[in-house]
Amino acid sequence: MSGGVDKIEDLRRRKSRSELGGGQKRVSAQHAKGKMTARERIHALLDPESFNEIDALVEHRCRDFEMDRNVIPGDGVVCGHGTIDGKLVYCFAQDFTVYGGSLGEMHGLKICKIIDMALKTGAPVIGLNDSGGARIQEGVASLGSYAEIFFRNVRASGVIPQISVIMGPCAGGAVYSPAITDFVVMVEGTSHMFITGPEVIKTVTNEEVGFEDLGGASTHAKKSGVTHFTAKDDKGALEIVKELIGLIPANNLQRATVVETNDSFDRLCENLETLVPDDPSLPYDMAIAIEEILDLGSFLEIQSDFAQNIIIGLGRLGGQSIGVVANQPIHLAGCLDIDASVKAARFVRFCDAFNIPILTFVDVPGFLPGANQEWGGIIRHGAKLLYAFAESTVPKLTVITRKAYGGAYDVMSSKHIRGDYNVAWPSAELAVMGAEGAVQIIHRRRIATSKNPDQERERLVEDYQEAFANPYKAASLGYLDDVIAPNETRIAMLKALGALLEKEEPRPEKKHGNIPL
Ligand code: HXC
Repeated sequence: MSGGVDKIEDLRRRKSRSELGGGQKRVSAQHAKGKMTARERIHALLDPESFNEIDALVEHRCRDFEMDRNVIPGDGVVCGHGTIDGKLVYCFAQDFTVYGGSLGEMHGLKICKIIDMALKTGAPVIGLNDSGGARIQEGVASLGSYAEIFFRNVRASGVIPQISVIMGPCAGGAVYSPAITDFVVMVEGTSHMFITGPEVIKTVTNEEVGFEDLGGASTHAKKSGVTHFTAKDDKGALEIVKELIGLIPANNLQRATVVETNDSFDRLCENLETLVPDDPSLPYDMAIAIEEILDLGSFLEIQSDFAQNIIIGLGRLGGQSIGVVANQPIHLAGCLDIDASVKAARFVRFCDAFNIPILTFVDVPGFLPGANQEWGGIIRHGAKLLYAFAESTVPKLTVITRKAYGGAYDVMSSKHIRGDYNVAWPSAELAVMGAEGAVQIIHRRRIATSKNPDQERERLVEDYQEAFANPYKAASLGYLDDVIAPNETRIAMLKALGALLEKEEPRPEKKHGNIPL
C-alpha cells in the first residue's frame, strides 16, 4: 500500500518537475520581457480544461557538455491537444526557460509526434515558437530533428491547416518550419525571425542592422511578407489564431465552415452605389466593397501591411467562410506587381486546398510597368497568380467593379480560367488597355496628320470609351454572366454561392503541377 503511494508521489514529483521548466528565476525573466510562459500560452489559446499534455516525461539523451547533469522532463517543449471553440487542435509551445527553448533531438521528435497525430486525426496544428534554435550541445542530432519537422510540415501541407506563432527568437534554419506552414503570426517587439543574425551580417557584408529592423514583426509584415499577422502581445497573437481556426476547416476533406449569421440575405449595399468615382483616374477604397458585401464585421484581412495593392483575407458570406482577393485602387492604382501576385497566389492555393470558395474583386489597370519588375521576374511571379486561379476548383465568384485591362483581366479569376460566376458593375471597363493608351497606338498616324491633333485625340478617346469602356461587349460574348447594380452585389453573390456549393470540377490526375516558383 505504502509502496503504491510512493509511486504516485514519484509520478507527481516527476510531473511537477516538468511543469517547472527551467525554474522560477527564468520564468520571472520571461515575464519581465512581457512574454508568457509556454504553459500560460497554451492555456490562453485553448478552451478551459481542454488541454491534454503528451510527452511531459520525455528527456534529452545528450551526455556531452555535462548535459546529463541538467535533464528537465519535457525537454523544453510543451505538447498536446485541446480544443478552440470546441474544435480539436494539436499544439506545441517551446519553453524558453529550458535551454532557451533550443531544439534538441527529443524536443524535435516531440513536435514530430504532434504533427503526426494531427495528420492522422485531421486536425489543425499550431506551433508556438520561442527558441534559440538548434541546441548547440546536441549538434547534428538537433539538425536531424529539425529536418524531420520540415518533412512533416511538407507532408501535412494542404491536408491540415498549420499555423506558426513566433513569440520570441526564431533564427537560422529554424525559420523554415514556420515558412512552410500556412500562416505566421508575430508578436511586436519580442519576436524575431532571420536566417543570419546582425552579428553574422556585420562580419560577412559589413552591414549594420539591429534585431528589430532585420527581423522584427513590423519588418516581416511590411517588407518581406513573411508574417501574415502581427499582434501587440502574446495574448493578441493567440486571439488571432482562435479567429483563424473559426474560419477554416479542420482538414482538406471537410467543407469550409458555416455558422449562423445575423446579417440579412436580402440586404442591399446602398453605400456601393457611389463607391466608384465618375473619373476613372480617381482611386477609391476597395475595402469598403468587401466590408459591405460580406457578413458585417466578418472580414479578417491577411498580410494587411504587405503588397497593399492587393487585399486578401477570410470572411463570411451568409455564414459560409469565404476567401477574398481584391485589387486595391488606392495603392499603385491596384496594379499587379511581383509581391501582390505572390501574396494572392499563395492565398488562392490555401483556399483551394481547404475547400474555401473564393470571391474576387477586380479593378486592375494591368501589371506594374518598370525595369525592376521585369528584372525581378514579374513574368514568372505574375504567372503564379494565373496558375493558382486556373488550377483551383473551389467555387469562384468574380466581381469587376471598374478596370479589367489586358493580361490582368485574364489573371483575375476570369471566366476563361474557369471563374464560375463572373459579373461586372455598369462602371466596368473590360479592354486590352485604357482608352488614352489604345488611341495613341491605333490612331497615332491619324492624330499626327490631323489639323487639330488634340481635338482629334479627344474625339477618338471618347469614341473608344463609348465602344469598349463598358461591360456590355464582354457580356454579349458570355464572358460575364451578368451586369449588376453595385447595391445588388451581396444578394447576387449569396445566390451564386448557394448554387455552387455542390460544385465538382475534376482535373486530370497528376503527381503535381509545375507552378512557376
Ligand atoms: C543551447 C541555448 C541556445 C542554443 C540559448 N541557449 N540558445 N542553449 N542551444 N541554441 C540558452 C543559453 O545558454 C541560456 O542558458 C538560455 O538559453 C537563455 O539564453 P540567453 O542568451 O541568456 O537569452 P537572451 O539574452 O534572451 O538571448 C536569446 C538568444 C541567444 C538571442 C536566442 O541565446 C542566442 O543568440 N542564442 C544562440 C542562437 C543561435 O545561434 N542558435 C543557433 C542558430 S542556427 P542559461 O542556462 O544561461 O539560462 C540554427 C540552425 C537550425 O538554429 C538548423 C535547422 C536546419
